[in-house]
Amino acid sequence: MKQFIQDLAEKHNNQEKQLLQILREIQACYHYIPEQAIEQLSGLLPIPRTRIIGVVEFYSFLHLSPRGQYELLISDCLTDHMRGKKKLTAYLAEKLDVAVGAVRKDGLVSLDNTSCTGMCDQGPAGMVNGYALTRLDRARIDRIADLINRREPLAAWPADLFYVDDSIAKPGLLLKQPIVQGAALRSAFKRGLKATLAEIDQSGLRGRGGAGFKTAMKWAFCAGEAQSERYVVCNADEGEPGTFKDRVLLNSFAHQVFEGMTLCAAIVGARQGFLYLRGEYLHLYEYLQEILHQRRQAGLLGTNILREELDFDIDIHLGAGAYICGEESALIESLEGKAGIPRNRPPYPVTHGYLGKPTVVNNVETFFAASAIAVNGADWFAQVGTEKSAGTKILSISGDCARPGIYEYAFGTTIQTVLNDCGATDVLGVQIGGPSGTFISSQEFDRKLAFEDLATGGSVIIFNESRNIFDIVHNFTHFFAHESCGFCTPCRVGTSLLKKQVDKIYEGHGSAGDVAALEELGQLIRVYSHCGLGQTAANPVLTTLERYPELYQNKLKKISYEPGFDLDGALDIARRLAQRDDAAAHLSQVGDHD
Ligand SMILES: Cc1cc2nc3c(=O)[nH]c(=O)nc-3n(C[C@H](O)[C@H](O)[C@H](O)COP(=O)(O)O)c2cc1C
Ligand code: SF4
Ligand code: FES
Repeated sequence: MKQFIQDLAEKHNNQEKQLLQILREIQACYHYIPEQAIEQLSGLLPIPRTRIIGVVEFYSFLHLSPRGQYELLISDCLTDHMRGKKKLTAYLAEKLDVAVGAVRKDGLVSLDNTSCTGMCDQGPAGMVNGYALTRLDRARIDRIADLINRREPLAAWPADLFYVDDSIAKPGLLLKQPIVQGAALRSAFKRGLKATLAEIDQSGLRGRGGAGFKTAMKWAFCAGEAQSERYVVCNADEGEPGTFKDRVLLNSFAHQVFEGMTLCAAIVGARQGFLYLRGEYLHLYEYLQEILHQRRQAGLLGTNILREELDFDIDIHLGAGAYICGEESALIESLEGKAGIPRNRPPYPVTHGYLGKPTVVNNVETFFAASAIAVNGADWFAQVGTEKSAGTKILSISGDCARPGIYEYAFGTTIQTVLNDCGATDVLGVQIGGPSGTFISSQEFDRKLAFEDLATGGSVIIFNESRNIFDIVHNFTHFFAHESCGFCTPCRVGTSLLKKQVDKIYEGHGSAGDVAALEELGQLIRVYSHCGLGQTAANPVLTTLERYPELYQNKLKKISYEPGFDLDGALDIARRLAQRDDAAAHLSQVGDHD
């Protein structure tokens, strides 16, 4: 082990900021982070032991105790549940003789749940040693169990088990017309970099990661900072349940995404870029490295790009299972090898980002669109969309519909049109923008995709009439409690209280007071949380409470209050002392007295 760790640290130039990448490789090799490795790294990098342990504990794909040689994780998100995930996991556990959350006695296999893996169009999904497994059913599970029991190395597993479909169902302006390699850079140099920034400005392009900040403005701020070092970061953390469009863009249009990053680097004056790729997309890693290699060979990355005296290169950093790392300042912390805890903002990354230097962070789709605008011009892009939301939006559609997949729409399109196109019938409601977004009911399907109406990073999950709103709220509330980074109290404590309160109502023990408390708690978390995760964690509760108050009311016991502890049990000692155990000596806790 000693030699392995030493070589690994050397490969990463003994750099502290490489800690997360180093730990990922140790985890892949030993199936956990051994104490000996922590000791050795703390001397080599050098970093205090406790900080290394803190990083290991922060990321859900790193472990201080051994996992199985085959580490199986099954996506615990809603659409997988809708497709029978629970029964399939139980079947898998039985086949492999391992409990969920445990390692088999012989250490060969471990099984656990994980948050959305970004395969919502082809679930139930999971991962084995970080590699995506799609369309799980009993037949595939039989094969997987057999391969594991035969100790077949992953490299020898049939490729179809790992096949990830791109499922582009409806291409629009951008997806129909991918650019030729190098075209955006050539156009930009021909037009002039300043004029190209002006073109992107006129196009009205706004960030596609959710918040919708004007892209040209962000780039101009960064370019305007009086610093010699600047960075460009592509946010491919895509962890919002129901989103998978960045996965598809990186698989089918990686050149164009990298070209968008290089274009940005030319405009802002950056020499180094990073693609922060969520750990769940490990299957894309080698392929993306190959594309970067091709671009270097073609003179589109590296030194003196297109002989225009532009030097720029891109590294790929892998995440390790933390949804919060999609938040841009947490992402930067993670890029620096630390736990992904969101920074105080301001200052924003555009002035104090990676290593404290000006940094542009944009979503995959934003870079993809920017490169197309550089080639085709502002008017081409702005010809579609609305006044405040120019161009198109790429959606990831999943849930109850005949054709889940990737759909590209001009902003301003109604939800009804989207539902018609993907074959959704008897729709109860649609979750727009993932758990942190908005749940809209069937009364609202004339609402439009647009920053000024329904803003979304791209996640659209459809629920038909057979679904129960409480299952949705329950799943999303658990998701946030699980993904809270724990840094600030309103979110750490609040999301866990919210989860408990929702569970209580979900299980039929809620009273009128509980619903009022739920709403109050939700508002508290929204207002006092430090970052966007906490600020939106109560959305599933608040948006459904607003739309379906009667559903919550119907779920309640007809009592004004139910204590959160076992009242009757607490009287047990008194009963024993009084030597009475007849019916009148018991208190009924729920339900039967108004
Ligand atoms: C909890 C949380 C998760 C986020 N996840 C992502 C993500 O996966 N991808 C993304 O591009 N932006 C995500 N964002 C938004 C980013 O902080 C940031 O606004 C975005 O990357 C900026 O790029 P854009 O201007 O191109 O949209 C997230 C924000 C929060 C609060
Ligand atoms: S709001 Fe939640 S996720 Fe954000 S910093 Fe606080 S604890 Fe972490
Ligand atoms: S992987 Fe199942 S909804 Fe995302």
